[in-house]
Amino acid sequence: MAVAALVGLVASLPNGLGVATVLGVACLAGLLLAALVLVVRTDRGPSALADIQAPERSPIAELRVARAMGVGVGFVQDDGSLSTPSPTLTAMAGPWNGPLDWWLAVLSQVRMPTPRTCKLCGGGERAGLLRLDMDTPRGVRRVYQLNLHGHAHEFHDVDGSLLLVRDMTVTSVSEENLRRLNEEMTVARDQALAASRAKSAFLANMSHELRTPLNAVIGYSEMLLEGLEQDTLSPGSTKQDLGRIRSSGMHLLDLISDVLDLSKVEAGKLELNPERFEVRDLAREAMAIAKPMARNNRNRVELDCPADVGSMVADPIRVRQVLFNLLSNACKFTERGRIQLSVRRLAGGTEDQICFRVADTGIGMDETQRRRLYEPFYQADTSSTRVHGGSGLGLAISRLLIQEMGGHIELQSEPGKGSTFTIILPAKAQCAASTLSA
Ligand SMILES: Nc1ncnc2c1ncn2[C@@H]1O[C@H](COP(=O)(O)OP(=O)(O)OP(=O)(O)O)[C@@H](O)[C@H]1O
Ligand SMILES: [Mg+2]
Repeated sequence: MAVAALVGLVASLPNGLGVATVLGVACLAGLLLAALVLVVRTDRGPSALADIQAPERSPIAELRVARAMGVGVGFVQDDGSLSTPSPTLTAMAGPWNGPLDWWLAVLSQVRMPTPRTCKLCGGGERAGLLRLDMDTPRGVRRVYQLNLHGHAHEFHDVDGSLLLVRDMTVTSVSEENLRRLNEEMTVARDQALAASRAKSAFLANMSHELRTPLNAVIGYSEMLLEGLEQDTLSPGSTKQDLGRIRSSGMHLLDLISDVLDLSKVEAGKLELNPERFEVRDLAREAMAIAKPMARNNRNRVELDCPADVGSMVADPIRVRQVLFNLLSNACKFTERGRIQLSVRRLAGGTEDQICFRVADTGIGMDETQRRRLYEPFYQADTSSTRVHGGSGLGLAISRLLIQEMGGHIELQSEPGKGSTFTIILPAKAQCAASTLSA
């Protein structure tokens, strides 16, 4: 271009100026330019040299850094195959018998990013971040982070997209453990808060529950004293008042026994006294206690217990207590309905078991109520306390007692359709095995 312009310039010059003069000027300009370039390069000295080499040095340095940081390096070709795995990547792929088998396992689990057009060569390059959670052929869990960086033209002698692989197993597992711990702590905190709220509610309920019978005891005994002093007592009213004092006292005793039972079982200090007893006799006794309660709400009670159900070894007082609580609940939460206690011996399995089932046709419970049922002091409907009484301890104690005897309790219930509690107990309680003969 410059030469052509020069020739054009020469051609357009007036005849008075010679071609030699023009060429001379051009040569001088050329010499000046060359001198300028030389000065600039000489001024920059060795740093200019370093600049020229930097593009070659950089990928090598990066590879070293990758290796030092435990990052595996390889190249993913257009056909999806892996080439030139670095020693770190080869070591990572050890459990798969090397990088090629490892790569096949990787491809069976993840989809590679679709190729995009490389700005430098126009070919298809892959880029993207993938997380891989897989098992080694021996079933050991491994978590990898695959980072595809597109074509790496700075590595002159390799084709394909640059792949960086990090083994994230330790980090991932610790993160997961931390997350789980956090969740567990949140649940524990929520449970502690719920328990504390339930205890506050319980104290409020308890003060009501305790005051009512205590006031009755104090009130009726004062009336009796007054009557004695004024000589106005009749045998009939005295008997009635004494009866009220007695039943209030019994009620208080029940309440206190429940609280004590619960704290004893929770502290692992409850002693069971197992003995052999006839299951049918015990079921009949429980029914006899429940009958008066059933009458209050005009319920019909039935016992369904085969004569040959036989005997069992357990603490009869505790089994009766559990049955009584279930039957009393059924009576409390059912009106003009049917309450049935059925008893069966479940033979044939690995263990001889006794199944008690208390079914009612009462108000039933929804899912939330069913879930919280065995929490101490829980009552499905706080307003029901006033109607039905109780302190919300019966089921908490019952379940703990059943578990102590090696059994379990289940519930089927639907609002408005009634409830069925099923208890399964070993026919020979574990705690009795060493002390009692079969
Ligand atoms: N058969 C049932 N039908 C409907 N709700 C029930 C039944 N059994 C229990 N519940 C619900 O579960 C709650 C807890 O029962 P639990 O026996 O533990 O306490 P409670 O009967 O209220 O008091 P306590 O047994 O200590 O005198 C009850 O208050 C009631 O809301
Ligand atoms: Mg109860």
